[in-house]
Amino acid sequence: ECMERKLVVGNWKMNGDLVSNQALFEQLVDRSPSSIDTALCVPFPYLAQGQRALSGSAIMLGAQNLSEFDAGAYTGEVSGRMLSDFDCRFVIVGHSERRTVFREDDQLVARKARAALAAGLVPIVCVGESLAERDAGQAEDVLLRQLEALVQLLDGASLARLVIAYEPVWAIGTGRAASPEQVQEILSFVRRWLSGHVGNSRAIRILYGGSVKADSAAALFSLPDSDGGLIGGASLVAQQFLEICEAAA
Ligand code: G3P
Repeated sequence: ECMERKLVVGNWKMNGDLVSNQALFEQLVDRSPSSIDTALCVPFPYLAQGQRALSGSAIMLGAQNLSEFDAGAYTGEVSGRMLSDFDCRFVIVGHSERRTVFREDDQLVARKARAALAAGLVPIVCVGESLAERDAGQAEDVLLRQLEALVQLLDGASLARLVIAYEPVWAIGTGRAASPEQVQEILSFVRRWLSGHVGNSRAIRILYGGSVKADSAAALFSLPDSDGGLIGGASLVAQQFLEICEAAA
């Protein structure tokens, strides 16, 4: 990954249908700024639609989850290789909704990141603390625990291929983004931690996610350690997503 260019990723979560997706793809293609990297992480059934709609465009395709396994008797699972087959470039791993609702622990998240890398995908590994953890002064401890699990499985060269997304749970879908000061504090903490494990921590993109909107994006993206954002709700509205992309340009 090239750290000079910012990365803005839309996470559609479990939203959309063939008709609304098509409209959204068409409104976005050819309109995202060329000076940044842009990707859309869509639900599994719409990967083929995304592949078709985005082919030849600068917007890259991604998924929101993958199996830790390669292939075989794993009913209901989707492998990294299948995602690559549909030209996915990215896959979100360890989103807080998966950690909380689907009980994915730090070790499983690390195994999924490893599986993604093995399939040639760029894992966007999400980390972040809950409100209770922040209030208890444990935000950095939680992040450390989540990050350390990655080092258990991945060598420096593999770590260097990750994108890390800081998504404080209390800022996701709440309309209450973390303040630029709060975000910078954690981004630089993550950057310092990375420096201890990879040669050039600047080469790793660190994103912020959590209620990023058009009016808050510029301040968040211009932070010293920000390489872009992971956008939920606002990525479902073309105009909002494009304005957020412009704020990173
Ligand atoms: O992965 C992005 C996400 O969790 C943030 O969602 O709706 O707060 O932008 P939202």
